[in-house]
Amino acid sequence: MRIWIGYGSKYGYTRKMVEQLADALEAEVTLQDLKQKDKGSWQHADALILGGSVYAGRLRKEVRSFAAQNKAELLSKPLGLFLCGMQDKEESEAAFRTNFDAELLSAAKVKAFLGGAFQIEKMNVLEKTIIKKVAKGEIVMEKDYPEELERLAEAMK
Ligand SMILES: Cc1cc2nc3c(=O)[nH]c(=O)nc-3n(C[C@H](O)[C@H](O)[C@H](O)COP(=O)(O)O)c2cc1C
Repeated sequence: MRIWIGYGSKYGYTRKMVEQLADALEAEVTLQDLKQKDKGSWQHADALILGGSVYAGRLRKEVRSFAAQNKAELLSKPLGLFLCGMQDKEESEAAFRTNFDAELLSAAKVKAFLGGAFQIEKMNVLEKTIIKKVAKGEIVMEKDYPEELERLAEAMK
């Protein structure tokens, strides 16, 4: 079983998550950073997983663009979708609806919210101001949902 994971990550949290996902999948996994121009031979995979981090409510652009440009192919294979972010998992449903096409959402075998981490040292002043709003008060540095990662892996096996 060949599984392709296309992802968008700014500071590396999503990258870390997809590496853990690759281990959990126990399959022949290809990780593709969608920022790269060359997307590799993803059409040859048996199943596809797509996702990335959310900034100010928006999934990273390279992921949205890839999904829009390749919708038909994405609909033709078993599909898993995921998001990373610092909002609460319970509120992630709306983020999925905003960031993925309705047909992709209903075709997906699984939608998982994998949490996030703030890397304050890499942020500019504007980003620091925004995260204070996202955090609504006290800033938690990391939200980890290992059970969601496990659920995503199980659904795609
Ligand atoms: C400026 C800024 C805005 C953010 N906005 C959101 C948001 O709207 N929703 C959310 O869930 N997380 C938000 N986050 C948290 C990121 O999604 C989180 O830090 C994530 O782990 C980043 O993953 P990456 O390193 O793979 O890009 C924001 C972070 C920053 C720095």
